[in-house]
Order: sequence, then structure tokens, then C-alpha cells
Amino acid sequence: MIKEKIEKLISQLTLQEKVDLIHGNGLFATKGVERLGIPPFITSDGPRGVRKDFGNDSWKEVGLSYDYVSYLPCNTALAATWNRALAHSTGKLLGKEARGRGKDMILAPGINIMRSPLCGRSFEYMGEDPYLVSELVVPLVQGIEENDVSSCVKHFAVNNQETRRLDVDVEVSERALREIYLPGFEAAVKRGKAKGIMGAYNKLRGTHCCHHDVLFNEILRGEWGYEGIIVSDWGGVHDTKEALMSGLDIEMSVTNDFDQYYMAQPLIDLIERGEVDKKTALARIDEKVRHILNVMNALHMLDGERSAGGYNDYADKASLRQTARESIVLLKNDKNILPLDRKRIRKLLVVGENANRPHASGGGSAEIKALYEITPLMGIQMLLGGNTEVVYKPGYFNEDNGNIWASAADSENGQADSLNQDIVESPAPVAIEVSPEQKQYRLEMNEKYMREALEAAKDADAVVFVGGLTHDYDTEGQDRADMKLPYDQDRLISELLKVRPDTVVTLVAGSPVDMSAWLDDAPSLIYSWYAGMEGGMALAEVIFGDVNPSGHLPETFPISEKDCPAVVLGEFPGGDKVHYNEDIFVGYRYYDTYDVPVAFPFGYGLSYTDFVMTGIRAEVVEDTVESKAVKVSFDISNIGSRAGAAVAQIYVADKYPKVKKAAKELKAFEKIYLEAGETREISMMLEREAFTYYDEASHQFRADAGSYMLMLAKNAEEIVDITEIELKN
Ligand code: BGC
Repeated sequence: MIKEKIEKLISQLTLQEKVDLIHGNGLFATKGVERLGIPPFITSDGPRGVRKDFGNDSWKEVGLSYDYVSYLPCNTALAATWNRALAHSTGKLLGKEARGRGKDMILAPGINIMRSPLCGRSFEYMGEDPYLVSELVVPLVQGIEENDVSSCVKHFAVNNQETRRLDVDVEVSERALREIYLPGFEAAVKRGKAKGIMGAYNKLRGTHCCHHDVLFNEILRGEWGYEGIIVSDWGGVHDTKEALMSGLDIEMSVTNDFDQYYMAQPLIDLIERGEVDKKTALARIDEKVRHILNVMNALHMLDGERSAGGYNDYADKASLRQTARESIVLLKNDKNILPLDRKRIRKLLVVGENANRPHASGGGSAEIKALYEITPLMGIQMLLGGNTEVVYKPGYFNEDNGNIWASAADSENGQADSLNQDIVESPAPVAIEVSPEQKQYRLEMNEKYMREALEAAKDADAVVFVGGLTHDYDTEGQDRADMKLPYDQDRLISELLKVRPDTVVTLVAGSPVDMSAWLDDAPSLIYSWYAGMEGGMALAEVIFGDVNPSGHLPETFPISEKDCPAVVLGEFPGGDKVHYNEDIFVGYRYYDTYDVPVAFPFGYGLSYTDFVMTGIRAEVVEDTVESKAVKVSFDISNIGSRAGAAVAQIYVADKYPKVKKAAKELKAFEKIYLEAGETREISMMLEREAFTYYDEASHQFRADAGSYMLMLAKNAEEIVDITEIELKN
């Protein structure tokens, strides 16, 4: 019935009308065909909420008073919750607001693997592990699409750096591609039933990913059975014929010469000039239109039965705050100096410019016009109320210090410029350039701010430092040059710790930073991400113990970028080409297997209570070549005095691997809430995927018979119990 309806529509469309459906006729929308009731297809960024509206043909923001929206925790924060239910509720909220703002497709989530901590867009992604990404992207996508809105899982594929993002050519083994870089997309498509995928800017093995026959036709559509829409990244198409043949459905770009897009008039010209077989070309165009109409139909865009969505609903703030709370990672807490006891603090000093900085409006296409954003300073004030004097000192100097609130509202959009420049000049990762005068001024201001903070620290009852990165560093279009904290924060933190050895250090950032200058001296350390509009409140709640932290790192924090496998074994950021010679040894797979010390391992996160996990046991329930099921059980107790949540992680290690494998890989996890003193038995199921590797010779995932160790762990370094199983087939 639906099929017939769509085929009928296709037969009624002229070639021009079909072409109108497959390319942008605005910066974020296609044209639609009014006479047949086919509406334009309207997209919007992005992962942290629904972006503000731009003019149809200009990057100037419209400046509406009603496109302020919920600002959601960035994907790294979401991943740090290790909580599938929160991924679902976050997706649901995003889809609801996208629909509420009249969008058909939200350009989210971003799920590229963090190959290097320096990637400028790490904050938009979900860390380094394909299993964790897969487990979270499925409920996230499902949540988004519950609201008659399409997700758009991006950027497919191997878009792991910003340096030369438009033309860098990735050379990666088939095994690493299949085991590390593709599983998240496969899960989003096969289990999450995503209706949208965005091609990446970069090339893979010589061809741009936005018109990559192997990626789109063979893998996505062929192997995974994907029937949704493939949309290009904005300006990611470079060839009409390849775009036509590749399986790309919609070309979007950043310029307003819409008729000149590769899949617009040039496509009609190509056919008319006879440079492609006409029948094949028309069939390909019909195929694209079919995908688009199918998705439109599924979203109820053709039948008037569509959900209306809504945005800025107060009821949704609770789940937003909960996600922010669960994303915060307690990295150090020597002598249990945290949580702080607010009753004993008359005067609290808050140092660090990030305490007072809203981040929503930065980062590139992930920018958000937030309805509000509770900064850490606000959150602390709100939580402590009138009995504590809160003194704030920026401590370090950041250019727009003191005028942050004004600048947040009228930030410029550099997206079009960043894409219009000649790709050869695409920025290499350099430290942000400043003139000698500016440098001198900054140094002086920094000294002044530091002195003021150190002075104020002397008579405060407690000192909380809130530093980290900003979206000058965690940003689209540019990688970081190194992992160092900017604005001379290392020196400030070291000096603060001399004056006040009990200073609570908290960092707000979207990616790992080098903490070696002061880490040993800091007794406590909290890592908070760009955790959305409620992030500052959640951080305050953790500092003062209203919330027991339960976030865990979704990526390894190496000591420095120099230890990173992409640098040691592979290339980062490479040149014309970047060779992923580290192969499958990405993140903990490398640090673990090659015994490289790290600052904090993958999966790490402390709590204000203590958990004991023991008694791992496993039962092989099913063991055929095609299908396996292994039930793993263990006991977990909360032996501390307050309720909390642990993240139990199961890693699998092949005892006698036939090919080189990582020392172990995460294959199951569960976030478990326990009251003080509570004990529970937990079971998880491992399926065939838990034992497979990609065999390049036979082009498929294989699970070899043999002995496997199943490790119960608190993080990638801390294994608390091990059992062994034998797979016979
Ligand atoms: C980004 C995408 C984004 C698109 C539209 C591109 O520059 O890479 O992630 O969705 O622009 O703004």
C-alpha cells in the first residue's frame, strides 16, 4: 500500500522535480514538490540540541526570540554516564525539540571514534570504544526517532580529525575499519533503525566518503540493509557522477548557488550530455527519491498524522539534570576530602574562568542558543544559598573575560568560511596565534589574576578551582596542538595547591588534557564535560555531596598526546594521507596491550561509596558456529555508607589468539544502583560478537574455538575477578 503510494508519486514527478528533492535548496532544506504534496525536507544541527535558525540562503542567523532551546550534555558527557536509559531520554528530548522547532532531521548524533585526544570534535563524539558507542547510540537514535524526526548519524566514516578535514585521505586496514570505526554505525542502522546517515568530509582510500561506493552501496545498503537517507556533509560532495552512482541521496552544502550543487543542474546536464547511461542514471535518481519519500512517509510527513513535538518543557529538565549528574567523573579523592561539608564553609573561594563561562554558544555546528546555562559558579551559589559567602576570582585570563555574557549572544558563524577556503590551506593544528603585544598583555593580566586568586585563597574556608578547556580548543574545524591546559592554568593550579593543598580541582572540557604538572599534588579531581544547561548545578551537587558521582571515562586519558597510539604507531594528523598504522590498537586496546602507563584508564570513575564485585562465573548456554550465548554472573555489594551507582565492566580476552588481538576488549557493562549495604547478583549475556574478530581473508567476522578469559573490572586497568570458558565451535 505504502509502496504503491510512493511508486505512484515517483511516476508523477518530472526529472527536475526529482532533482529538486535530492539537493539543498536552502542551507538546511531541500525544495519539495508542492503540487504533489511533498514538503521540503528540513534539517538542523545538532548533537547538543536544536540549533538556531539561519536565513535560507545566508549564514546570518535569523535572530529569532523563540529559537532558544534546551542545551543537552555533549555526547562525551552522555557516554560518560554509561547509562543506556539516559541515552534514550536524551534522544527523546532532542527529537521532541527538533519536531517542536519544525525540523524533519536532526543532524545528530556524532559517533566517530576518538582516535586521538587532540581531535577538535572529540566532545561531539562518544569516546574510544566501539562497544560502548554501539550500546549508547542505539537507544539515543531510538529516542530521537520516537518523535517523527529522523536522526542523522555522523560522520560516516573515519572522520577522526579536523586537520584537512575536507580532503585528508585515510588509509586504514579493513580489520580496523570493521572492528573499530564501523560498529557504532552498524548498530545505529541495524538495531537503532536510524533513518539518516551523514557522509564524512574526508576521503577513505582515495575517494571522498560522501560519494563512496563501497561505504554506501556495499556496506551500508548491501551488508547492513540500510533503507534510510544518506545525506552529504555540508560541502562534502565533489563529483556529480560519483555522487549519482554512490548511493548518496541528498547533497547539502554551505553556499547559496543551490542550482549549481553537484546533484542539481550539473546532474541534469550530465545526463543530457550523455556522459552517463541515461537509464542507469534515471534509475539511480529514482532510488534516491524512493529513500527520501520512504523516510518522509515513516515520519508522517505525507499523511498529516505527525507528532507536533515541543520545546523548553520544564518537565524535561529533570532528565537533563540527571544526565549531567551521571556524566561527572570523580578522578581523585585522596583522604575523602570530597564531598565538601557546606555547613563548615562560611567563605568559599571559587577560582577559574570556566566557573563563570557558558559554553553553549561555541564549538562550531554544535553551538546552541541555550534557554539558559547554569555555570558552575551559578550552580554553587544556587546550592549554597545565603549562609555561605562565595568569592569568585577568574585566576587566569581569557580574552573576553568579564564580557562573556554579552559575547555569547552574538557569536559569529565561521562555518561557511571554513569550508570556502581552499582545502590545501585547511588549518593544521597550531596553537591559536596572537600578536606580541597581545601576548604581553595576556601575560600581565594572567599574573594579576593569579596573584588575586592566590591572595584570596589564604583566608577562605575552602577553595574550588574550575578550569579546563573552552570551545576555542574543543571545536569543529581545528585540532588541538597538544593536550596542555591553556591560559597558563598548570602554573595557577600548582601555585594554588601550594597555598591551599586541599584545593578541589575540577575541570570542564570535552576531551582529555595533560595534568602531569600538578596531578600528584592535587588530592581531589573532578572531570565535568560540557554537560548542558544543568551542568553547573550538577557539578555543584557533586562537590557538596548532594549527588554521589557515577560517571566513568568513555576514553583513556593518556599522560600526554605523545603516548597516543595514533602518534606512536600511526600518524596524526598526517599529510595528504593519514595512515592508521596503529590498526585496531586504538585507546585502551593499545595502552593495555603495549603496557603504556596512562593518567586515567578507560572506564575509570570513583564514587563517594565503595563497591566490591566478586564471584564471577560463566555458563556457556549456546555454542554453535553461528550463534553463541554465554551467561556471566557475579555479586556486587555497596560496602560504604551511602547509596551510589557502580559501572561493572566485562572484558573478554582470547587466551591463545590465532591473530594478533588486543589484551582484552569491553564486551558487556551495566550501571548498577545500590543502597548502602546492599548486595545483588548481576547477570549479563555475551553473544557471538563478544568473541569475534574481522578476518580479512574471508571478509567476515569469525569467532574461533578456544579458551577465553572473562574479566570483571572496575575499569580497563582494575580487574577484580576472572573466569575462563571454553568455546568448542
Ligand atoms: C559539519 C556537520 C554539520 C553540518 C551542518 C558541517 O560542517 O561537519 O557535522 O551537521 O556542517 O551544519
